[in-house]
Amino acid sequence: MNLAERRKSSLAGAGAGAGGGAAAFGGAKQAVTSLRKGGRLPVYVAGVFFVLCVIVMYGEDIRSLTLEPLARGPATAGATPSTTVPGNRGRRVVVVPRRDISSSEKPAAVLHRSEQEKPKHAVTTTAQAESTPEAVVVGTPPQTTTEADAAEAAAKSRKQKKAKKKKQRAAKKTVVLPSALSVPETCDLSKGRWVFDNASYPLYREEECEFLTSQVTCMKNGRRDDTYQKWRWQPKDCTMPRFDAKLFMERLRGKRMMFVGDSLNRNQWESMVCLAQAASPPGKKYVSWEGQRIVYHAWTFNATIEFYWAPFLVESNSDDPKIHSIQHRIIKADAIGSHAEHWRGVDYLVFNTYIWWMNTLNMKVMRPGGQSWEEHDEVVRIEAYRKVLTTWANWVNDNVDPARTSVFFMSMSPLHISPQVWGNPDGIRCAKETMPLLKWHGPLWLGMDWDMFHEAKNVSRKESPRVPITFLDITTMSERRKDGHTSVYTIRQGKVLGPEEQADPGTYADCIHWCLPGVPDIWNLMIYTRIMSRPAVQVE
Ligand SMILES: *[C@@H]1O[C@H](CO)[C@@H](O)[C@H](O)[C@H]1NC(C)=O
Ligand SMILES: *[C@@H]1O[C@H](CO)[C@@H](O)[C@H](O)[C@H]1NC(C)=O
Ligand SMILES: *[C@@H]1O[C@H](CO)[C@@H](O)[C@H](O)[C@H]1NC(C)=O
Repeated sequence: MNLAERRKSSLAGAGAGAGGGAAAFGGAKQAVTSLRKGGRLPVYVAGVFFVLCVIVMYGEDIRSLTLEPLARGPATAGATPSTTVPGNRGRRVVVVPRRDISSSEKPAAVLHRSEQEKPKHAVTTTAQAESTPEAVVVGTPPQTTTEADAAEAAAKSRKQKKAKKKKQRAAKKTVVLPSALSVPETCDLSKGRWVFDNASYPLYREEECEFLTSQVTCMKNGRRDDTYQKWRWQPKDCTMPRFDAKLFMERLRGKRMMFVGDSLNRNQWESMVCLAQAASPPGKKYVSWEGQRIVYHAWTFNATIEFYWAPFLVESNSDDPKIHSIQHRIIKADAIGSHAEHWRGVDYLVFNTYIWWMNTLNMKVMRPGGQSWEEHDEVVRIEAYRKVLTTWANWVNDNVDPARTSVFFMSMSPLHISPQVWGNPDGIRCAKETMPLLKWHGPLWLGMDWDMFHEAKNVSRKESPRVPITFLDITTMSERRKDGHTSVYTIRQGKVLGPEEQADPGTYADCIHWCLPGVPDIWNLMIYTRIMSRPAVQVE
């Protein structure tokens, strides 16, 4: 089967499992091997061919694995298949006062953890809550009250807001406090090695973080080896500090941090919440769902750590956090406003966009002035990516106040679906990998699109001269971590994989997302290191 055909078929057959991809891949690999043996082609040609094959077989993987929508709630809650409208899961919704976290004054809908676990009988306003951008809260909401109380609280918060606004107008001065750490900006955190450190890792325990969703709780889902949790990242030229939740939350006091992007950024957001929540006592923290956002509230610090679903950063037909299809995705490369409205005034912005681009070699881009999604063109991936990142960086440059807000862009998170690449011909994707690649030098052909990597790195510098964007390279370090993925210890269409599915990693292993605690903790440690090594800015 040639590449074009393979591509077509991988996109067409909804029922075609990733097993087909693996078979095609096996063929490609054999071809590469025989080419090499015959010495008829230089190794690099074989390499390029090989990478092409990997990219093409990605299609199916990405299609099936990026589909897990925002999994509602901690490990107990189920997610829903992305292409169907989520059904009424029979949750009771109670109204409580909403905190001062957005401009909307609507009262929030709250879901109790205990109630969520009750049998499905209390069918009330769930459907409504699903379709309106109100909040659904899981965790330990600080208070549960009646509607009268809610109204009273809302009025109070309105008053407070007014008073605050007055104050802001009266005196708005910037205070710069010294930094807490002193890791130099010039130290390249991405160059280094993984060091086994079971004395100080993991940084938190899976069962101790109530906010982890069952997509990432690998041990709970049946994984037996836990070595993957115990690796420290040691940069070559400096040392990253240990994560100090108290210190971090003090820095975040009265502020908002927001992760914007796809499910890998959500993966990282979950990690950050688990790292940070140690600073807040029980009952003073909870997570709520508010339209495109999931918001972790650290009540005592008046701070939030949020996730905002925008898999392409720009607008697309896949912007619904629950109903989207990677297969039929179409983007508006120059439209970002409806998302970006929600990013204004955030103090720490962490962006990513990559995996949703990898399904096909071309992107469908809506024509300028187009009225419907049907009016689109096929654009070469890298060109579309450049356009989108330019739109994004221009927005950052024109709208972010660099005195107040720090902007980060996370580089590409690698996939591990081809064990032959790292010298394990008997492997099945990333399943059964229990150790990082420790003794590997030079590049690893995992199918990473390095052109996109460099594009992102350059755009950050070029298109946003006024606002510094910190490009964090997590790609190479994560490439070594074939052991860190959720594999078969995860969910599919909202359900934890059963024994039969777990026995079939060729079809079911997710080698895109990461177990937590795990690799994304290290990415966050990099953000932490950068933030805490810079002077603290307080706008008063
Ligand atoms: C850490 O690992 C070493 C070597 O595997 C082992 O001997 C030791 O007991 C472990 N320590 C802890 C605290 O798990
Ligand atoms: C709480 O944080 C928000 C920003 O997230 C800020 O606007 C507000 O002034 C803070 N409130 C208090 C009481 O510090
Ligand atoms: C990015 O910038 C570097 C150095 O300025 C240059 O060598 C490289 O070609 C650029 N890459 C892209 C994709 O623009």
